[in-house]
Amino acid sequence: MPVTVKPLAPNIGAEIEGLDLAAPIADEDFEIVRRAFCDHAVIVIRGSRFDDDDHIRFSRRFGELKKLKVEAYLGQRRPEIFVVSNIKENDQYIGAHDAGMFWHSDGPFLKQPHGPSALHALEVPMQDGRPLGDTHFANTAAAYDALPQALKAKIDGLRAVNSLARRVELAERSGVKGTAAAKQSSTQEQEAVHQVVRVHPETGRKCLFVSDGYTTQILGLLEAESKALIKELTEHIVKPEFRYTHQWQVDDLVMWDNCAAQHKATFDYKATQRRLMHRTTLLG
Ligand code: SIN
Repeated sequence: MPVTVKPLAPNIGAEIEGLDLAAPIADEDFEIVRRAFCDHAVIVIRGSRFDDDDHIRFSRRFGELKKLKVEAYLGQRRPEIFVVSNIKENDQYIGAHDAGMFWHSDGPFLKQPHGPSALHALEVPMQDGRPLGDTHFANTAAAYDALPQALKAKIDGLRAVNSLARRVELAERSGVKGTAAAKQSSTQEQEAVHQVVRVHPETGRKCLFVSDGYTTQILGLLEAESKALIKELTEHIVKPEFRYTHQWQVDDLVMWDNCAAQHKATFDYKATQRRLMHRTTLLG
């Protein structure tokens, strides 16, 4: 079966058809995948049965993987696999139970923000035949392109602070205790300053790099002006025209670009409905 690319929404997301993640992928097929990823910022691969080794092997085709520190993610089997789950064993979450509560990209509080992430669905909560726990994605390059010229001129060259502490504070304000981010906070860099407009290293497109989940301040502006600009930009990025929502099936792999896309999970399932995802993340 040939490998083909089917766009999923006007500005973001494509499904790659004809790819078996459990089998070796020929260079010419991988080139189709790589191009689709550059063009669509989020790719969906479904229909193959695969394990952590296949997941890691596929992710490595894009570059070097981040290895996580043991205390940051209980229940892990391989240091390349970050577990996202609401499942508890021995009264402890087996992974990050609050990942994706707010719009964000992965790792903007690091000097070298993360490269792409790839999430594999192992257990998906269901209700009345419909999957719960969708993940929303928004294209930050398309959002930048659509800004008025005057706003582009204003923000080009501005820099913003992105902080892990904001992520922890937002979660705790929503009543989530012992967040995954808080677990990581003793072992990771806490805060980094990045351009509000990042140029994508591969596509050369300009991408908005402020998020509700992590951005605390735009440098050089008064506090009220900084807050208002963060609000304006973060609300703009997630407008429906820049978005794709993924409804999960078991054994879906969804890979997203952490410069050209932001994401947010939906917490519409009960504690008794199991959701288990394994994630790989590339170094920036
Ligand atoms: C994440 O933010 O990495 C996880 C998203 C999800 O669980 O849908």
